[in-house]
Amino acid sequence: RSVNGALPTTSSLSSKDNGENLGLIGEDKEITVTITVVGASGDLAKKKIFPALFALYYEDCFPKHFTIFGYARSNMTDAELRIMVGKTLTCRIDKSENCDQKMKEFLSRCFYHSGQYDSEDNFSKLDEKLKEHEAGRISNRLFYLSIPPNIFIDVVKCASTSASSTSGWTRVIVEKPFGRDLESSSALTKGFKQYLDEDQIFRIDHYLGKELVENLSVLRFSNLVFEPLWSRQYIRNVQLIFSEDFGTEGRGGYFDSYGIIRDIMQNHLLQILALFAMETPVSLDAEDIRNEKVKVLRSMRPLEIENVVVGQYKGHVKGGVSYPAYTDDNTVPKGSLTPTFAAAALFIDNARWDGVPFLMKAGKALHSKRAEIRVQFRHVPGNLYKNTFSVDIDRATNELVIRVQPDEAIYLKINNKVPGLGMRLDRSKLNLHYAAKYSKEIPDAYERLLLDAIEGERRLFIRSDELDAAWKLFTPLLKELEDRKIHPELYPYGSRGPVGAHYLAAKYNVRWG
Ligand code: NDP
Ligand code: BG6
Repeated sequence: RSVNGALPTTSSLSSKDNGENLGLIGEDKEITVTITVVGASGDLAKKKIFPALFALYYEDCFPKHFTIFGYARSNMTDAELRIMVGKTLTCRIDKSENCDQKMKEFLSRCFYHSGQYDSEDNFSKLDEKLKEHEAGRISNRLFYLSIPPNIFIDVVKCASTSASSTSGWTRVIVEKPFGRDLESSSALTKGFKQYLDEDQIFRIDHYLGKELVENLSVLRFSNLVFEPLWSRQYIRNVQLIFSEDFGTEGRGGYFDSYGIIRDIMQNHLLQILALFAMETPVSLDAEDIRNEKVKVLRSMRPLEIENVVVGQYKGHVKGGVSYPAYTDDNTVPKGSLTPTFAAAALFIDNARWDGVPFLMKAGKALHSKRAEIRVQFRHVPGNLYKNTFSVDIDRATNELVIRVQPDEAIYLKINNKVPGLGMRLDRSKLNLHYAAKYSKEIPDAYERLLLDAIEGERRLFIRSDELDAAWKLFTPLLKELEDRKIHPELYPYGSRGPVGAHYLAAKYNVRWG
């Protein structure tokens, strides 16, 4: 897949304006792409964005003419930016190739411009520099807002008035959080739309760029065996699980004003849920897919406090090592009630999913790091083999597990006969284990999403009506938790989380996987 047009892909075929974006119609049209990382001195830029840009360069995904600019207030020269970025690049893709040389080439395309986020003057200076690099070619400009949300609008205003392209497209990738609730998110959207059209805004949810989330629709819509079972008739419950085995280390300041529900559930897990539960879209076109996702979100019941459990990690000593409590972080106010864990039962009131609990669980500082979708199927009616299971028949139902990370896999738990003369049943896994099947490393989500934004492919980005629908579901709950000052249940750092999550699941006759 390449912006030079080497490989046709689903996304390039489905995007209306790709021809021009990619220079597919005649590379000699001399198109140039400039990516400006706003907030280039920050954590996300170093950790994810520059490495992803390098990976795309390494894989020959950029057009012949491209430039990368870092923009932030910090004083830095081009050379200093290159040193900073150079430290984050790795040759993970193919160590046998000439990676050092590729890094040098990539870094020579990286430049830095220091400026304020609300200064049109500073952005005009950036514009001059961009023009020098574009050298009269058709210019396509992508701005990546890797900055705190309170300055999004300032930047969008300055970039659109003083540094937008006059000959090609101008697009803006926005990092989450997109607001704190329905009201602030709508205000943000309104602010953006003063300066940009909806199709210029690429709201990123990096979970949509993860390989196994991308594969969800392929699994469902290109295999006859799954789609007929994909409903309340056969599925007992669906679980969406996110856990990290570390705390908010270093991001406590940000985290405290958002909490786990806004940080993970309202976006990453809800997006997976919408993709999982949507009806078959008319086509793979971005609008067709997003239309179906928004219908799911609009068919859901807003979350009720009785169906939610919140927790916060407390300090814990294990094997002589002492692990901090969430409130030990200096950037977190003492006595903070911000949840670092939440579990919730959600329902989609439509014909396909009526009555099926969708259970979400997300937490920091838990015993393991994983993101999974677990689909538990109903019992086999009148099971002929009910007396021959080696496990409780209740636990012998089929389960489809999509392990998004780490160690990507899709497996189906089935029942089979233990070989031998007797008749005893066992549980086994039909397993697609990515590392065993594919030798090539899976690209980082940011690589896919950046490339999609350059190509103008919007399928994996959040449309404003999706965002509104998502906030409508969560805002009443968040308000109630905050107004009533609900105390989160404390759980030890490194544990399985609060016991309340098990009671919540039990209420719906579910066991967490
Ligand atoms: P940072 O806090 O590191 O901020 C990025 C840059 O913005 C800083 O280097 C700084 O640059 C500038 N900045 C920071 N605070 C302010 C402020 N109060 N006013 C003006 N400028 C400021 O953020 P991250 O890099 O961690 O994240 C960027 C965005 O991505 C945020 O919206 C975040 O929520 C989101 N995000 C981050 C993730 C992560 O893992 N880090 C994960 C998912 C989303 P300078 O001082 O040089 O101008
Ligand atoms: C971010 C959250 O969106 O996703 C972080 O803000 C979280 O709190 C991160 O750690 C997890 O992403 P990944 O790709 O590492 O699972």
